[in-house]
Amino acid sequence: SLIVPSVQELAKQSMTKIPPRYVRQDHEKPLLTSSDDTSILSVPVIDLHILFSIDSQSSTYSYELSKLHTAAKEWGFFQVINHGISESLLEDFKREVLSFFKLPMEEKQKLWQKEDSQEGFGQLFVVSEEQKLDWCDMFYVNTLPHNIRNSKLFQKLPPVLREKLEAYSTDMKKLAKAILGEMAKALGIDGEEMSELFDDGVQLMRMNYYPPCPEPESALGISPHSDATGLTILYQLNETDGLQVRKEGNWVSVKPLPNALVVNIGDIMEIVSNGVYKSIEHCATVQSNKERLSVATFYSSSMGAELGPAKSLVEQHNVAKFQRLTLEEYYKGFFDRKLKGKSYLEFMKLEDF
Ligand code: SIN
Ligand code: FE2
Repeated sequence: SLIVPSVQELAKQSMTKIPPRYVRQDHEKPLLTSSDDTSILSVPVIDLHILFSIDSQSSTYSYELSKLHTAAKEWGFFQVINHGISESLLEDFKREVLSFFKLPMEEKQKLWQKEDSQEGFGQLFVVSEEQKLDWCDMFYVNTLPHNIRNSKLFQKLPPVLREKLEAYSTDMKKLAKAILGEMAKALGIDGEEMSELFDDGVQLMRMNYYPPCPEPESALGISPHSDATGLTILYQLNETDGLQVRKEGNWVSVKPLPNALVVNIGDIMEIVSNGVYKSIEHCATVQSNKERLSVATFYSSSMGAELGPAKSLVEQHNVAKFQRLTLEEYYKGFFDRKLKGKSYLEFMKLEDF
């Protein structure tokens, strides 16, 4: 991928117009809706305390599980509350991520992407000088399993950030697996088959810093895409609007709720669920007077796992809607293509569907 300049540095220059590389074509320009608009449906909220701690024979439990199932089918997105991640860890991690992005540029330069790697500060999927860029600096890092880590990169991280990242990554893995376990129950996927796929999953993390933008109506923080993961858990650090989700042809703003995390279905889970759960397009918009920070944690099946519709589901459905391949082959194909909408998932679909 190509090396891009820091948007944060760019945004420090006082300007009224953004450089042409960030100005979207008319059909790509965002619709700046507000999450306060109550006339629009909002992304469902799931109480994980009920799913994780209440008797699974109770009607309270069944009701919450069906809410989760419907959200995953009809939205591909939901927010979770009472998720069990400690507030102090969330606070500590937030503080460290914030100071990480506020480091002087000379320090961040040492962690900037190299042409042969996606990891570090920069942008993903930049393949040409003509391509429009996102109004965002990100820091991308492979976190789990340990053998996919770039130890040189980890050693260069500020020690406290590294420590909090470690704790956060461990907790996010637990949470992703627990949610996937509930999804398996809701879908009727054999528990063991699910464990085999996701017990030792690949975890990647993307920290995002969206500086204030003088022309928010012309730029995008992140272009529309679906995630190439099993499950994504998004932590919106400073409770600022920006995330928008595609719903029946419209863009719906996700309202950041205090102490909530946003969860979404990725392409892999759409495939594993044999198309029942939906990996939905989303994007991030920016604001003129506010910065926004978020951390997306991507959790996928284990590197060696064979990817395809769960066998126990194909038996129920009598038909497989996607082809089978390994996660390694899948990622290779994914990064070979430019990230755009759901194109790669479409490619995986079997001819007849
Ligand atoms: C995304 O990771 O696709 C969106 C992240 C965000 O809302 O900041
Ligand atoms: Fe995403």
